[in-house]
Amino acid sequence: MSVSQLTSNTVSNVAIDYSEMEQVLGHSVFPELFEQGSTAMLKRRKNRHPDCIASNPMYVPDEETAKLALVWLMAPLQMLSLGLQGHTGTGKTELALYLADKLNLPIYIVKVHARMNPQDLEGSYVLDVENNQTVTRKEYGPAAKAYLNGGILLLDEFDKASGELTSAMHLLVEGKPWPLEMFKETIQKNAQCYCIGTANTYGSGHDERYITSNQMDNAFLSRFMWLETHYPNVIQESKILEKFAPRLPLHLRNDAIKLANAFRDAALGVNRDGNVADPIQCIFSTRVLVAWVYYIQAFGVFRTLKQSLDSVFLKSVYADDAEIAIEIVNKVFGDDINRPLKDILAKK
Ligand SMILES: Nc1ncnc2c1ncn2[C@@H]1O[C@H](COP(=O)(O)OP(=O)(O)O)[C@@H](O)[C@H]1O
Ligand SMILES: [Mg+2]
Repeated sequence: MSVSQLTSNTVSNVAIDYSEMEQVLGHSVFPELFEQGSTAMLKRRKNRHPDCIASNPMYVPDEETAKLALVWLMAPLQMLSLGLQGHTGTGKTELALYLADKLNLPIYIVKVHARMNPQDLEGSYVLDVENNQTVTRKEYGPAAKAYLNGGILLLDEFDKASGELTSAMHLLVEGKPWPLEMFKETIQKNAQCYCIGTANTYGSGHDERYITSNQMDNAFLSRFMWLETHYPNVIQESKILEKFAPRLPLHLRNDAIKLANAFRDAALGVNRDGNVADPIQCIFSTRVLVAWVYYIQAFGVFRTLKQSLDSVFLKSVYADDAEIAIEIVNKVFGDDINRPLKDILAKK
């Protein structure tokens, strides 16, 4: 075991071995994925590292995608990094956070953007004061920390990376020894470091909807095992909304889901494959939907559904889409959209 895996615990001053594993029942860790009575066992870290992050308790995983991601995580080798591709708000980031949390893996999130440079991943020297003296201290970046400590390295929205950054990530996503230019030091991947990238596109570049996505080369993309995330089906989305807005009546939550899907039909086609004439650009994602039902409750019984919908969604719709957006809303909700919540609650 390397020294970096042994971090001293400041409370008891006993060194904790964060790489120590335990066998647990799949059902006890992931009750959403493994049925009661299932004998499937999983290996997870026994001790929680301080860099672990609690995940969203409202999150409801898609069973198949989460299970495939687990297959990747549990395999003795990660031949490829894991790529999660899907539209905005389909739960890519949440899935990575959920898996990390449940498996007691620390998670290091790199929010990739076009002006990011390799140093942001690797780290840099920072000035610090020690005994009244200014000293330079090495500060590893998030990717280097994940490489050293083990855990999930989440390259979030990595289709936004510049060409320069993409080349800097090549060795990293392959799990190869990684030279940190800044420190003139080459680090080896911790056996428990798992690299996950999320992307809206496969890096085709010039996507009308994701204008900040960049073209990425095939050599880079082929270093990932890809799973696609989708908007949940009605039953699943209904379970999610129940968590976010338990006090709203079922018929209202169902109508909200109907509205989300009417918008998705108009933007992505009924099969969500982009096959639609003259698509609208705005996306009614799960992110928007859960926010809407949540704020319907928070806005209270005297405010109309339209008021909360304006605030969470309609105000941000481009002018070109505004007219059609109102048409879609009216088609699903009719006059109810302009009624206060108390009237809707009174309806059976
Ligand atoms: N399966 C889900 N269960 C519960 N909430 C979800 C789910 N998927 C998406 N959400 C909601 O949508 C938000 C956006 O999800 P996120 O993972 O950030 O999407 P992405 O990374 O695909 O753009 C989450 O913070 C959560 O509120
Ligand atoms: Mg995300």
